[in-house]
Amino acid sequence: MAEAQARQRGGNADEDSSSVEGGVRIEVDGEIATITLVRPEKRNAQTFATWSALARIGENLPEQVRVVVVKGEGPSFSAGIDLRMFTTEGVPGQGSFSSAAKSEGAGFEQRIRQAQAGFLWLRRPEIVSIAAVQGHAIGAGFQLALACDLRIVADDVSFCMKEPALGLVPDLTGTKPLVELVGLAKAIDICLTARTVHADEAMRIGLAEQVVAGGDLEQAVRDKVAQLLSTNRDAAAATKRLLQGAPGRTLEEQSVAEGMEQAARIKALFG
Ligand code: ACO
Repeated sequence: MAEAQARQRGGNADEDSSSVEGGVRIEVDGEIATITLVRPEKRNAQTFATWSALARIGENLPEQVRVVVVKGEGPSFSAGIDLRMFTTEGVPGQGSFSSAAKSEGAGFEQRIRQAQAGFLWLRRPEIVSIAAVQGHAIGAGFQLALACDLRIVADDVSFCMKEPALGLVPDLTGTKPLVELVGLAKAIDICLTARTVHADEAMRIGLAEQVVAGGDLEQAVRDKVAQLLSTNRDAAAATKRLLQGAPGRTLEEQSVAEGMEQAARIKALFG
């Protein structure tokens, strides 16, 4: 059944599809994929199974998808890593931090790299990812929101990078986008105090693109998706490549990159 759904997900571009794995539901409707964390009764706490499921979604994303929406069911976007990881029993079938601490070699680092794969694909130039965030976005939940290109948030949102308070570092790819969005000083402030950032501050410091009343979140995301789908697919991907590359290039290098992308566009449009 799950296999059939996975095949369907990666297969026929004309078919819509939906499946649930690792507490994550994926629905594909034409050019739009919606990823929903579906453990609201546990505030969408994340496990290694969640991150494997996210990575698989990225691997199997149908080519026609242009926009990916990431959201969480219930009152919280995500309350972060499943706290059972801190117990000696751990998460059934997935171990615990104490079992990880006893593992030899680079085994745990490798598991972290696999978990990060679930987040990294959300930055691909071919798609735009939007996190629709309500309520708590704590730790891994905050980092999942940071993994997306855009964050549209409800006015009850509360971001918290809790890891340092628990003796950990944020390791799910969140540190770089956080610094890029809010600057180093504010990122240090947010992470090293593990304080909560509410909607008004999130908007002011650039963590959120838009704040709306909770009841308006779905519509606000739908409107943004429609705007994003109104531009040319290939031009959008090329422009995202340019914007993503800009911080690492000089003005001269960026100008050269713009020229190369434009030459390719002109060839594709008029050649
Ligand atoms: N892991 C596992 N279970 C969780 C988690 C979590 N991270 N967060 C909430 N839950 C469970 C609770 O245990 C509770 O389960 P129960 O009904 O079986 O008792 C259920 O979800 C509801 O949680 P409440 O605390 O009752 O919900 P409330 O809305 O009052 O509070 C809040 C939500 C603030 C998110 C609170 O649950 C919380 O502080 N959770 C822990 C946050 C945390 O420290 N996360 C780790 C961050 S570090 C990292 O991600 C690497």
